[in-house]
Amino acid sequence: MTNHHQESLTTYPKPGPTREQEQVDEEMMSMQMQALRITNSLAFPMVFKAALELGVLHTIVALEEGVWLSPSEIAFGLPTKPTNPEAPMLIDRMLRLLVSHSILKCRLVETGENNRTESTQRVYAAEPVCAFFVNRGVNSGSLMSQFMLLQSQDTSEGCDTRRKRCIQFCPWHGTLRIRCTDEQFAAIFNQAMSDSSTMIMTKILEVYKGLKDVNTLVDIGGGLGTILNLVISSKYPQIKGINFDLAAVLATAPSYPGVEHVPGDMFIDVPKGDAIFMRRILRDWNDKDCVKILTNCWKSLPEKGKVIIVDMVAPSEPKSDDIFSKVVFGTDMLMLTQCSGGKVRSFAQFEALASASGFHKCEVSGLAYTYSVIEFHK
Ligand SMILES: C[S@@+](CC[C@H](N)C(=O)[O-])C[C@H]1O[C@@H](n2cnc3c(N)ncnc32)[C@H](O)[C@@H]1O
Repeated sequence: MTNHHQESLTTYPKPGPTREQEQVDEEMMSMQMQALRITNSLAFPMVFKAALELGVLHTIVALEEGVWLSPSEIAFGLPTKPTNPEAPMLIDRMLRLLVSHSILKCRLVETGENNRTESTQRVYAAEPVCAFFVNRGVNSGSLMSQFMLLQSQDTSEGCDTRRKRCIQFCPWHGTLRIRCTDEQFAAIFNQAMSDSSTMIMTKILEVYKGLKDVNTLVDIGGGLGTILNLVISSKYPQIKGINFDLAAVLATAPSYPGVEHVPGDMFIDVPKGDAIFMRRILRDWNDKDCVKILTNCWKSLPEKGKVIIVDMVAPSEPKSDDIFSKVVFGTDMLMLTQCSGGKVRSFAQFEALASASGFHKCEVSGLAYTYSVIEFHK
């Protein structure tokens, strides 16, 4: 009879993995985790959206410095009190994920209850990035409505489905024009633009000095007029603002002192002014359309007039693990799928647009977050 036990006693132990093998294993493990993170990437936007919709993020951001809340305290502090007894546990599971994405921070605290399965519980507080997703008062703006817009079914369906749905209203097939025929989507879209423009413009007004000698400023595709209102009310009361957009958009725009809403189509002509402003306009269109818009601007500007473009500028080289590359090239893909022919341009591509539409100089005159202020001079 074989004695396995005895046999194993007399066997020499196998040598463990070498340092090189351990290193290869670690690299494989980290690559596999990276691949899984990509595979599971749907979970984060899903949970972040729910946290915004339920008011979880607002509840946590509203806390005073140094205050941390347990999942139960968060659940019962929500604007709509949950009736599901499992709500604190579900919120806890959501918040753990948000911690792993550096949206929240977490600590373990003793519960002091020995009869519980776990003698510690997690408590949460906000990381600084949360501030960009809640409204922090006048002129703060927020990215919440833009995030919600991108998560909406209308956006994920892409422009083709919207086009089919709205085709009876829209014989000319321009994406943004179609959006404006779908009233509900248009309202979400215009609010998202307005909220994010407040945030960016507040920063631009701190760093960019090119508006100080302007008398009449035309904002092309100015949406609800938020940008001009901010420019005039917070820093340049002498400016006469002309907010130019499609009639359907202006129909819901509030009136602001010093801002005249002028309806029209930038592909036909644009109002006269000594400077023309455009934020997030050129990225929606292909080069040919951009040259049409910019040529109309050139015609409406006086000698030495300028176009002020606020947009992202794509770097020529994408960098690995670089947040700016992720933002810019992600935005570029959104433009590709949401706006036929839209793209985020490099500085050389902006220079090419400037020269094709008659401007003699193109320069970057300021930076605000991921946006550049680019001037085209006549
Ligand atoms: C991406 S939004 C940017 C809004 C605003 N500039 C901002 O940064 O918040 C594009 C704007 O261009 C407007 N637009 C689209 N086609 C237009 C046209 N043909 N003439 C004038 N405005 C147009 C849209 O209605 C929309 O308000």
